[in-house]
Amino acid sequence: MTVYETNLPFRLIARGKVRDVYETPEGILLVATDRLSAFDVVFPDPIPRKGEVLNQLGAYWFRETHSMVPNHLKSINPIEALGLTDHSEELAGRCSLCHAAQPFPVECVVRGYLEGSAWTDYQRDQTVSGVRLPAGLERRARLPHPIFTPSTKAESGHDMPISFAKVVKLIGVDAAEFIRARSLELYHFAHAELLNKDILLSDTKFEFGMFDGEIILIDEALTPDSSRFWEAEPYLSGKAAVSYDKQYLRDYVEASGWNKTPPAPKLPSDVIGNLSARYLEIFRLITGRTLDELENDQI
Ligand SMILES: Nc1ncnc2c1ncn2[C@@H]1O[C@H](COP(=O)(O)OP(=O)(O)OP(=O)(O)O)[C@@H](O)[C@H]1O
Ligand SMILES: [Mg+2]
Repeated sequence: MTVYETNLPFRLIARGKVRDVYETPEGILLVATDRLSAFDVVFPDPIPRKGEVLNQLGAYWFRETHSMVPNHLKSINPIEALGLTDHSEELAGRCSLCHAAQPFPVECVVRGYLEGSAWTDYQRDQTVSGVRLPAGLERRARLPHPIFTPSTKAESGHDMPISFAKVVKLIGVDAAEFIRARSLELYHFAHAELLNKDILLSDTKFEFGMFDGEIILIDEALTPDSSRFWEAEPYLSGKAAVSYDKQYLRDYVEASGWNKTPPAPKLPSDVIGNLSARYLEIFRLITGRTLDELENDQI
């Protein structure tokens, strides 16, 4: 079942671009809908299976990384425990019960390659979030080492890059150093693991929050919405990078002439189908199983 918006019998804390977030007596419930956003604008069409892919892929990475850093995930199958069986059909596979954290107002971006806003910034003055890079790098070049390029977490509109000093001002030096170190470790771990699967992790974004006096990883991790994934083999042999992430949508949007301010245009059905197929494919490439195989096992 395709889901654009949910209305559950709990207090709605937030409707993000992609997730509906509810407060329950057991923690917060994150429902990954099939909404799609690009350039911080939500599109009017849902993408079939996208919410399930995001939810299950996030859970996969939370399991893979929990010994490196604790995370917010309590249960990936909370429907019965929360008395939501009347909503089983719309929620199946797409909701996670999580510890309700106090999110830090910082997006922890790690980049191993020069792409996106980092490429734009680099062209201007050879720096990215205050980090000076070598001269003469080309678009998508591998950086000498991965860099932490935090940004603000804007309530609405676009996130703005900030320096590490600004992160220290916002959350204190101990927390700032902790989330920088964990973000870089997570990137290194995922980059190595994905390379074995012929995928390059160009850059990705993490969020952290405080729960029970401890800093934990929250939100989503290493999904196609929070990461750039490239096909490794062509890139490594010097050919154009093929993207598994939202680049397909960004390219479509650029070519369509839409000016990137709301409302977003309706998408043709073949573009919707291609996007859905891409989300499912990246899920299979990363986890080694199809989403259907995984969900059949969970039943
Ligand atoms: N464990 C958690 N505790 C508290 N808040 C969380 C937790 N995990 C995720 N969140 C918040 O829930 C929201 C998830 O919604 P979604 O991913 O759709 O938002 P978004 O539109 O990407 O982000 P934003 O709200 O930052 O614009 C985010 O605001 C995220 O910070
Ligand atoms: Mg988000």
